[in-house]
Amino acid sequence: MQINVSKNYEELCKEVANFIVDEIKELSSPLLCLAGGDTPLGVYKNFVESRADFKNAMFIGLDEWVGLDGADSGSCRFTLDQSLYLPLAIEESKIQFFDGKATDLSRQCNETNQLLETNGPIDLVLLGIGMNGHVGFNEPGSSLDSICRVVSLDETTQTVGQKYFETQQELKQGITLGLKQVLDTRTVILIVSGEKKRSIVKKLLEDEKIDPSIPVSSLWQHPNCHLFVDEVAYSE
Ligand code: GLP
Repeated sequence: MQINVSKNYEELCKEVANFIVDEIKELSSPLLCLAGGDTPLGVYKNFVESRADFKNAMFIGLDEWVGLDGADSGSCRFTLDQSLYLPLAIEESKIQFFDGKATDLSRQCNETNQLLETNGPIDLVLLGIGMNGHVGFNEPGSSLDSICRVVSLDETTQTVGQKYFETQQELKQGITLGLKQVLDTRTVILIVSGEKKRSIVKKLLEDEKIDPSIPVSSLWQHPNCHLFVDEVAYSE
């Protein structure tokens, strides 16, 4: 894992945005997986301001809250629509995203697994880290062999997840790409910022080994993983 420490959130986002543009510039049709959540928003702002060229890219969703879709403010899809897909006029046909409101969620998983079987692996994934060390909705205890599935969410995730919504939500389950699909990705980028993430960053970095109770630590086995962190999150 290569570690890159930035002075502050602004610098961090600029560096991640530049890194991504550079990584994919030689690819004719990159398959990208960009996380929702708050942390990457500054990266997407950079993409929008610089009118980053994603015209040949395909996008695959990382995760979604079960029961929500792009019409729900605070859902993963809503966040990506507002911050990236709509401002950059990315066509719907280029986006494969989970519908957390679908009646048949296993079909959603199968379709995504199938797409990755046919068009995968993903070229680049940008991941945030949950307070409990989750990536996507791969919660503590997730298997390294896991593929796309519906999961029960940890207490921590249910509580912390309320920050995305104006009114209290029931956030019992999520739908997510699996750790295997993350680990199969050619380039993995982790972005972490702020005081609240200090303790998970410390846990990730202190042992440099895979601990199933900290899903993000599975990335120690990835040959091309880049951790971008700001000084505040890195300081312990
Ligand atoms: C959320 C999402 C993840 C996200 C992570 C960190 O619950 N499932 O995809 O990357 O937790 O979110 P944030 O960047 O808001 O801290």
